[in-house]
Amino acid sequence: MSLSFEGRVVLVTGAGGGLGREYALAFAARGASVVVNDLGADTKGGGKSSAAADKVVEEIRAKGGKAVANYDSVEDGEKLIQTALDTFGRIDIVVNNAGILRDRSFARTSDLDWDLIQRIHLRGSFLVTRAAWNHMKNQKFGRIIMTASAAGIYGNFGQANYSAAKLGMLGLANTLAIEGRKYNIYCNTIAPVAGSRLTETVMPPDLVASLKPEYVAPLVLWLCHEQCQENGGLFEAGAGWIGKLRWERSQGRTVRQKNNPMTPEAVRDQWDRICDFTNATKPANVQESLQSVVSVLSQVESESDAGAIPTAAAASVAPGAGINPTEAVGQKLPSTSFNFTQTQCILYALGVGMSTKDPDHLKFLYEGHPDFSCLPTFGVIPSQSSMMGGGLSSVPGLNIDFTQVLHGEQYLELYKPLPTSGTLTSESAIADVLDKGSGAVILLDVNTYSGGELVCYNQFSVFVVGAGGFGGRRSSEKAKAPLPPPKRAPDAVVIDSTTRDQAALYRLSGDWNPLHIDPSFAALGGFKSPILHGLCSFGFAGRHVLKQFANNDPSRFKAIKVRFAKPVIPGQSLQTEMWKEGNRIHMQCKVKETGAVVLAGAYVDLHETAEASPQSPLQGGDLQSELVFAEIGRRIEDLGSELVKKVNAVFGWEITKDGKKAAHWTIDLKNGSGSLHKGPYSGKVDVTFTVSDQDFMDVVMGKLMPQKAFFAGKLKVKGNVMLSQKLEVILKDYAKL
Ligand code: NAI
Repeated sequence: MSLSFEGRVVLVTGAGGGLGREYALAFAARGASVVVNDLGADTKGGGKSSAAADKVVEEIRAKGGKAVANYDSVEDGEKLIQTALDTFGRIDIVVNNAGILRDRSFARTSDLDWDLIQRIHLRGSFLVTRAAWNHMKNQKFGRIIMTASAAGIYGNFGQANYSAAKLGMLGLANTLAIEGRKYNIYCNTIAPVAGSRLTETVMPPDLVASLKPEYVAPLVLWLCHEQCQENGGLFEAGAGWIGKLRWERSQGRTVRQKNNPMTPEAVRDQWDRICDFTNATKPANVQESLQSVVSVLSQVESESDAGAIPTAAAASVAPGAGINPTEAVGQKLPSTSFNFTQTQCILYALGVGMSTKDPDHLKFLYEGHPDFSCLPTFGVIPSQSSMMGGGLSSVPGLNIDFTQVLHGEQYLELYKPLPTSGTLTSESAIADVLDKGSGAVILLDVNTYSGGELVCYNQFSVFVVGAGGFGGRRSSEKAKAPLPPPKRAPDAVVIDSTTRDQAALYRLSGDWNPLHIDPSFAALGGFKSPILHGLCSFGFAGRHVLKQFANNDPSRFKAIKVRFAKPVIPGQSLQTEMWKEGNRIHMQCKVKETGAVVLAGAYVDLHETAEASPQSPLQGGDLQSELVFAEIGRRIEDLGSELVKKVNAVFGWEITKDGKKAAHWTIDLKNGSGSLHKGPYSGKVDVTFTVSDQDFMDVVMGKLMPQKAFFAGKLKVKGNVMLSQKLEVILKDYAKL
């Protein structure tokens, strides 16, 4: 049945033109008696004329409708309502539509620009509506429309005054909707788009012509009909399209802990989480809004002092859900055992793209080869079973959704070349759990042994999407950090193609996740097709370095670190870019076809070659300090991880002889398990010392106090001077040299 307004009295403000005129005509056409209000002002609110309203009234009457003109300003709200009462005896519907513009950039907005806009739009709507309110209340029927604007909802340059007034009207409507509900007075807000004299200065003429006001009017009519139960809604409408808007609120984050002061730092540290709209809620009223806020009070109170901080929304999550780092860190996983033969080594080599096409690959592919070896990156395989076996899910304090787990980073260090068969046992423990806001990072350390002897160490860095925000630390000294490559062209680039079946082959090495083979499973994860294992690309990149810089000699391979940045689709080509910095080969791996970086911040550390020894400063030279550095190098090999923990800095050394630079050394006790290299450093050096070979020896031998050397100008320090104190840790024992 068509919607009739027979018997209804409607006031449309500003109905002399544009949208208002269209509403007035449409209401009248459906039987309403219409008060056509219009001051007849210009678009800026100047002037006054009865012509605009009269013309519309004539149009309505000409079609047999009922209408009366009113020429008062909306600021005289009572008079407008009085016209309705005097002429038609009641008032049922008020459409607050009258409006003007006084656009100015904010700095140039005058008092008048501000006041006039607030007066006509916001105050005018208030006065007109208030005048009608009691009549509506008494008759237990009323429909009110507020006209807001996209400028108010989203902001718009040059419309500060207008935006403020328009969103003010939304606030007014929100409360009227609540107060009017029990009297059957419903109030809704529209943000229309239509061609009119207000928009003709900002829109091209053909758009003004085609965005007809008649494409907005039906929404207004429906919202004002007695059948319509919508109340307190906000609608955008134009060109025949109508959409509803509402507020959305992130899950948010409680940044306060029991018995602790709340700090701006805590706010900063949780910022990502506070602003993350994943699983956002849509509070529809003040009660819903307050409820979650108030629930935080009791949640914080009931927290154990060391407990994880719950999110505001955590009230609905199963009790005990979430991460408790204090409980989880240090937890050991059940040890695992890995039996393998040469078959697994060969299968792995094929899985990471080795081919008999390359004669020098044969030693990894053929067990009869005199140098048959296992690829060093195979070291991740025995250790991954502790991850795959669902071990993580049994760890107390890690109550997380294991379908949301991503492999973030990998570090592998070998203490001896891997055997080609045997039994390896792995011991795993949670090294740390970090809170990255949007997710949690679990650092899992795995030591792998062969017959009681440590063969390799892995650190899995596992990202759990959505599990962050438990109030943990963002970083950890236990994390093996990725390192950016030097800012120069790479020293070597290798391009290698993966095959369509690369993942199908690689998974036979033990990672059976269907994400890498099953298209429907991949689709569930949001991927167009199954993706390659991150550790497969890792294997590609590792062997590229091994070939390029270590002549495919696995005994030279010390460690590898990568961060998995993006997925690779089987069949794409991998481009490994490498930079040699001493014994560290920085690398970055891209998909050649797209240029996307897939392995970032990566590096391989190699052991020194025997051939390099004649030039190697570690073996001595004509500087006395070379011996000390050689010893430092050995110490780092033995105690690197411990020193990194204690010192956490990169030291540069410039050794001079006869007033000239004679050698440059970098002692890196910040990254990985520490390293020493001759030559300047690609990354950031925290402090650089310049000292002569002789003075260096005097300091080391304890003959010269470092402070004295500094004040005497014998030891120059650049960078973070405070770190010099930590030098003691490295140098004190060498005084006995
Ligand atoms: P319009 O300028 O054609 O219509 C506004 C009418 O209000 C005019 O006839 C004017 O004489 C009248 N008026 C101005 N001050 C008055 C006062 N103090 N008392 C009584 N009448 C007064 O403009 P349009 O486009 O039809 O705008 C209608 C409403 O829609 C306005 O509130 C405007 O801010 C709003 N709007 C329009 C948009 C559009 O795309 N046209 C976009 C967003 C909001």
